[in-house]
Amino acid sequence: MLRFLTAGESHGSTEIAILEGMPAGLYLTTEDIQKDLDKRRASAGRGGRGLIEKDQVKILSGVRHGLTLGSPVALLVENLDFPNWIDIMSSHPSGDMKRHPSEITNPRPGHADLAGAIKYGFSDIRNVIERASARETIMRVAVGSICRKFLLEFDIQINSRILQIGKVHLLKSLNYKQMEEVIMEARKRKDTLGGVIEITAQNVPAGLGSYVHWDRKLDGKIARALMSIPSVKAVEIGDGVKNSGKFGSEVHDVISYDKKFFRQTNRAGGLEGGVTNGEDIICRVYHKPISTLGNPLKTVNLKTHKPETALIERSDICVVPRAGVISESMIAFVLADAFLEKFGSDALSDIKRNYRFYLDRIN
Ligand SMILES: Cc1cc2nc3c(=O)[nH]c(=O)nc-3n(C[C@H](O)[C@H](O)[C@H](O)COP(=O)(O)O)c2cc1C
Repeated sequence: MLRFLTAGESHGSTEIAILEGMPAGLYLTTEDIQKDLDKRRASAGRGGRGLIEKDQVKILSGVRHGLTLGSPVALLVENLDFPNWIDIMSSHPSGDMKRHPSEITNPRPGHADLAGAIKYGFSDIRNVIERASARETIMRVAVGSICRKFLLEFDIQINSRILQIGKVHLLKSLNYKQMEEVIMEARKRKDTLGGVIEITAQNVPAGLGSYVHWDRKLDGKIARALMSIPSVKAVEIGDGVKNSGKFGSEVHDVISYDKKFFRQTNRAGGLEGGVTNGEDIICRVYHKPISTLGNPLKTVNLKTHKPETALIERSDICVVPRAGVISESMIAFVLADAFLEKFGSDALSDIKRNYRFYLDRIN
């Protein structure tokens, strides 16, 4: 139903995305997208790039007079830092394949640097870094904003909160000062931190997804989408991790009825058998600490095979404060896709009518 592609290098001129399958008739402005891009940019735990990136989005196609047309929506974000990288990112002026003076040969543990260079036969790790960088998640957020706007037409809302940074469990949803202190401590030690984010989707109807085939199960689609975010190393649905150590009687959510089916608890996180059950969808993502370290780890030179220290590239300390919006965006995309699959796909007005019929039937 819905699909998107992104393109762009971290220090290239632009990041772009094409979203296909968004129905006609959705009001969409650049401001809808811009507010999510701003959330991804500004926060504690950022390195120098946070000050450079302004990430202004442009809508290039698929929207006319403020309404989506049903045709592909093309988006673009220019990289304001590109002029400083133009020499490194451009092809060699003479077109020959001479070694660029900035060639990188000391791969960083925890990055795609070594595996990527081996895979493509590159002698310059910059070729890997540029696309493997999480800068690409800008376009996931941009695409996710459109999906989120679509879901809001049906009152489906997606939010996130930070549960943990490093070893510190945060009691309130987002205590900026508390986060800054923990991250500042890591910065002083020239080290990095990971953490845990919880994402919740509210007002999701029962019946999205499918139990009939492994690749249609919505829990699987959500897990894949979240796991694809750089530095996410585990995904949890509901109380999945805690539940594995309990008795079944303590875990499963008793079914009740009061004008409609509901649960008094939601330990399943809104998904049973790969299908939404009408409760909130609750997921957690576990981010590893950033791999680029101020005190770099030992590595081996790609060419000489001699020991070296890993590359120090301009880098954040902790991605968690600004990564929530990326997870929200990925869930928005998966839910919008599942919604279109169930309720139709071309015109927003048709989809609304189909949805009303469905709600009448199930409530
Ligand atoms: C928003 C965001 C920003 C990131 N920034 C950095 C960074 O500045 N430095 C770094 O080493 N890793 C950063 N990462 C993580 C790496 O991109 C990631 O660890 C790396 O590409 C390897 O992928 P993997 O951890 O998923 O295996 C960031 C991740 C996200 C989601």
